[in-house]
Order: sequence, then structure tokens, then C-alpha cells
Amino acid sequence: MRINPWSSAQYQDYTRLREQFGIQELTPELWQNMPDPPYFFRRGIVFGHRDFHRIAAAITDNEPWALMTGLMPSGRMHLGHKMVLDQILYYQRIGADLYIAVADIEAYATRGYSLQEAEKLALEEYITNYIALGLEPCTVYFQSRNTDVKNLGYLLGKKTNLSEVNAIYGFGGATNMAHVLSPLIQAGDILHPQLQKHGGPRPVLVPVGVDQDPHIRFTRGIAAAHRLFNVTITKDGTVGVFVKPDDDVSRLLDVAEQATADRGFSSQRNDAYKALYLEDARKEDIAAIDLALAEQEQRQGSYGFVAPASTYHRFMTGITGGKMSSNRPESAIFLTDTPESARKKIMSAKTGGAVSLEEHKKHGGVPEQCVLYELFLYHLMESDQELQQLYRDCTSGEQLCGACKQRAAELMASFLSELQEKRAAAREKIDRYISL
Ligand code: TRP
Ligand code: SF4
Repeated sequence: MRINPWSSAQYQDYTRLREQFGIQELTPELWQNMPDPPYFFRRGIVFGHRDFHRIAAAITDNEPWALMTGLMPSGRMHLGHKMVLDQILYYQRIGADLYIAVADIEAYATRGYSLQEAEKLALEEYITNYIALGLEPCTVYFQSRNTDVKNLGYLLGKKTNLSEVNAIYGFGGATNMAHVLSPLIQAGDILHPQLQKHGGPRPVLVPVGVDQDPHIRFTRGIAAAHRLFNVTITKDGTVGVFVKPDDDVSRLLDVAEQATADRGFSSQRNDAYKALYLEDARKEDIAAIDLALAEQEQRQGSYGFVAPASTYHRFMTGITGGKMSSNRPESAIFLTDTPESARKKIMSAKTGGAVSLEEHKKHGGVPEQCVLYELFLYHLMESDQELQQLYRDCTSGEQLCGACKQRAAELMASFLSELQEKRAAAREKIDRYISL
């Protein structure tokens, strides 16, 4: 199977996705020590990751790290987008150095928007809602205006070839070149916070849906391809630092020897194998050693980008079943919907209720197949106890779908009308957020 980040396909077999693409399971140990674990962790909405332990460690040890996200200005913002934003707002609250890319080049290259249309939509629809929902000032920029990002998009392309991008994205002879370049621009987005002038090497988290995993794999591959050192565990269990280029090996081994000695590791060196074996290092030390070496690489004038970390979230089901998508307005509740129009959508939603009232009272409903239950789980119910109670009352047949709909419609109506007021205030502040 191949994932196409520009298609509207829904990828739902999350276990299989994890296995096929090497995404790790996000187990509670990884987040339970973080401040006030939010609903998207507690309720299993964020289910997988790559290298998240680097982020968790930076958070607990108070080390620098950054959060990178991008918004594709296309269509209206709906509840699915809000769930992603909830993650971003949480990380910003706990101190993330936050970068938001407006993917105007990508929208131009892959969706047929002009840069002007993309800008208008990004500001009026997305950033306004972000601020209304609680975004604090951070780095928001447009791809088309960010020279660092665009340069990286070109320069990083040096170590990847056409066959590799074709294998990941399924490009063919008829794919337009702007589209071909757009993954490189996104790699530029994700890696540029680690340029010296933006703070240098540090763990960077990119929270995405699985549809974006090709970009993550691609970017991690590019970051690795530009490294001078590779730190890994060898067959006999020792941690080894390996020099990647073939020239300048002994000087680079000197650099590695010094950097690891500074961190308290003694080592055995083998110039012929281009290797340095760290005697007392453990697997858990690899991330810190890798970061120390990346810093040295940047001092040598090389890129030294630490591979970005990622998390993967489940997608909300659309109101009518299937995917929630702005292309099908009846499937989505938009943040600019009026309370009445949201009520209508909720009233027509696909529930997990039994075929008749009698059946429902007797056998109960199936919350796992209920869009309403999902609305409570993702957005409308803060308290886990209350949600568990709803689950029990639904499966036992005590809770009826009509009552759920009423309740969801009311909660949604007050959310939407409050948001509408906050948007008015947000529009006044927008200039403070745009850095490019
Ligand atoms: N490709 C992303 C989307 O379709 C948008 C995006 C651009 C992005 N740059 C990014 C996402 C950097 C994460 C990080 O929504
Ligand atoms: Fe869904 Fe509520 Fe009906 Fe259960 S009772 S199936 S949660 S709408």
C-alpha cells in the first residue's frame, strides 16, 4: 500500500499502518508524565509516533524543542482541523517553540489556488480561528515568502533523486514540477527551525494524520542523508558512532571523540571502520549523543539536522459517515457554521443506535459506530467519567439517541456562538501573528 498525502482517501486500519510503515505505538508511558495529559492522549486519538520519546524527554528535562505544523489553505475549517489545533495549543501552553507554515506554495502546486487566494483563506479562515481558539503569538509564515524554507527546498534536494520521490509519492512523467518540488518545500518547513539562526539542532515535533506520513518519512530520510555521523547500536550491543563521508574521516573521528568525551563517554576508535565505539553508553543515550554530534556538524558548516519526530492522530468520522471533508459540506461541522445549521447536521447524523426504539432499549447502542459519541469524545465532553457514563448508558440501552442529539446540538451551539464572538476580537490581533 502507498499513502497519497494529496488524495481524499481515508486510512483507517491503524494497526496495519503502524506495522507497514514502522510507526511506533504511542503508549501511556510516553505521555503520562507530561503536564495535564490532554484528551487526545487519554482517549487514544493520538495513537502512533516516531521518536516521540525525544520530545517527551525534552519536555521533562526542560531542554529546548520545537513544534512545527503547517496549514493547507483550502476549504473551510472544520472540527477535524480543530482537533489538530487542540494538540498545537496544548504544546504551546507547555512551552513549545511553535512554527506554523502556511502551505501556500503547496496549495498552489497541488490544489490549483493562486497565492493571493491562499493568503486570503489562510488569514480569514484559518489563522482567525486559530487565534479565536486560543493561539498565542508564535512564528506564522507563508512558504512563498520564507527564503530560508525555499532555499532549503532546493538545497536539500541534492541528496534525493527522482526515483526516491516517485517511490514514495507515486509521481509519474505527467506530474507537474511544482508538485514534485512541494515535498521538498515541506521538508524545508520542518527542518528550518534547526538552522543556526532559528535556534540550531533540537528535537522538532510534527503532529500529523497518517496521510502526511510520506512527508515525515521523506523529511527524516533527507535529514539523515545530510548527516556526517550516524549513531546506532551495533550487533554486540555497543553504541557506535560512524562517520558517513569517505574523506576527512580521521578529523571527523577526532570531533566525535571530543564531543562524546565531553558528555562523559570513553571510547574505542577504529579508523579503518570509520567508527568510534562508546564503551559505557546505553541505548537510551543515543538521542543525546546524536544531538551533540548534530551540533558539531553545524559547526563544521554542515546541516546537522536531527530527524524530526512525529505523532499520528485518528481522523474524525464525518457526520454522514465516511471522512469529514470540506469538499462535502454535509459531512463536516464548520467552525463558521451557524448554531442552527450545526443543529440540523447533528440531527441528521449517523448514530450507533439500534434499528428501533424497542431494540435499542433492549440491546443498547454501539458507541464505537456512533458519530455522536465521537463528537462527545473529540470535542464536547471534558470529563472522562461523564464520557464513560455515557458509554455505559448507551450500551445498556438507557441512553437514547434523541437525547444525545439534543445534548450535542446544545453544546455545539454554545461552542459555535462563543467562537463567533472570539473571531471578531481575533481579527483585530492578526497582524501581531504574521512574521512573514
Ligand atoms: N502538507 C500539509 C497539509 O496538507 C501542510 C504542511 C505544509 C505541513 N508544511 C508543513 C504540515 C509542515 C506539517 C509540517 O496539510
Ligand atoms: Fe450514539 Fe447516544 Fe445513540 Fe448511543 S445513545 S448510539 S451514544 S447517539
